[in-house]
Amino acid sequence: MPVSILRIRENSCNSWTKIAWTRITFEDPLISQEKVTKKNISLVDSPNNILVTGGAGFIGSNLSEALISAGHHVTVLDNFSTGKMENIEMLLPHPNFRLIRGDIRNLTDCNLAVGGMDYIFHEAALGSVPRSISDPITTNEVNVSGFLNMLVAARDAKVKRFIYAASSSTYGDSESLPKVEEVIGRPLSPYAITKYVNELYADVFSRTYGIECIGLRYFNVFGRKQDPNGAYAAVIPLFVKQLMNHESPLINGDGEYSRDFTYIDNVIQMNLLAMATTDPDAINTVYNTAFGDRTTLNQLLGYLKEFLSELDPKIEKVKIIHGPNRVGDIPHSLASINKARRLLDYNPRYNLRTGLKEAVQWYWSNTNTPMNSEGFTVR
Ligand SMILES: NC(=O)c1ccc[n+]([C@@H]2O[C@H](COP(=O)([O-])OP(=O)(O)OC[C@H]3O[C@@H](n4cnc5c(N)ncnc54)[C@H](O)[C@@H]3O)[C@@H](O)[C@H]2O)c1
Repeated sequence: MPVSILRIRENSCNSWTKIAWTRITFEDPLISQEKVTKKNISLVDSPNNILVTGGAGFIGSNLSEALISAGHHVTVLDNFSTGKMENIEMLLPHPNFRLIRGDIRNLTDCNLAVGGMDYIFHEAALGSVPRSISDPITTNEVNVSGFLNMLVAARDAKVKRFIYAASSSTYGDSESLPKVEEVIGRPLSPYAITKYVNELYADVFSRTYGIECIGLRYFNVFGRKQDPNGAYAAVIPLFVKQLMNHESPLINGDGEYSRDFTYIDNVIQMNLLAMATTDPDAINTVYNTAFGDRTTLNQLLGYLKEFLSELDPKIEKVKIIHGPNRVGDIPHSLASINKARRLLDYNPRYNLRTGLKEAVQWYWSNTNTPMNSEGFTVR
């Protein structure tokens, strides 16, 4: 499979750089905490070469932006299967940014991307439980074989640390709440299996080859750039799109299932802390990456209607529809974030409402007018 490397070296220090620095220094909540600020200042003093796989996707593109803003050199490896060029187009002209179009299922692509890297943030995967139920083979190839390729490449390139996207789906059918990292149940989907296998491989690689690994079990992440389109869209961008189009959102079940919805900036904070830590006890382990509160689907839709009707009063009247429960869905999910607080100084700044408010504003400002049945294309 051909690999193309896009290097753009245009005018350095353009206005974007200045904007980014301003934002990261004065406004970005993930940097504004004292402890995090100290750590990131030292990182900025010595820029690292960082690979973000899946960097054209929702989480990877936001993370890449934060890393570039913090002064690092970022390479993105992505095959654009679910990622989008528009997610990273503002990064393309930046002198510290490099894009590799490649596939993690191809070891040659992984080796090429990993060469010279200090840190890897491995975000590339096929997300979505329903997608894995309809196509478990491709999900396994990308999420397990692709993950293993990346680990092998990271080992051979002797990178400093491999930080990877794990998942709350690993808790499976465990009914205990809140979820603590050490207590998991049986997986409920092929996707959940792949994410658990990632953790097992990372653990074995750290013990066998001495590679430093940290897994971040993301809990229902949401925020700017999350794709509202397609059969496997996540629930928050999908509901926002439907409400903006005055279409009725469909809740699977009675709406009393609950989730620990986590704003993207909390996730970025956690990733930066995982990179910065020098505490040996904090490495070669996994962390819940969440806010640490749960919200039902009914409450979520209430908040979305509240925020969106401030922008378009007609949205208040849009009816909600209920359907049957979905296969593989667990009733409730709530993370304990004590371990991350204790070992990484994690302190999430955005609760659901503050994150939702920002996300809704982003969708409102970056999407076409409501009632456009052609979709929700970013301007
Ligand atoms: N979004 C969430 O709520 C959530 C929850 C738990 C875990 N995760 C994990 O976080 C990571 C990022 O998720 P996201 O929501 O940003 O998803 P996303 O689909 O927006 O991003 C995934 C990216 O990986 C790329 N990719 C997929 N297959 C690839 C391949 N074979 N080679 C190279 N690139 C490939 C895609 O093109 C895309 O850019 C994934 O590992 C996902 O499993 C996400």
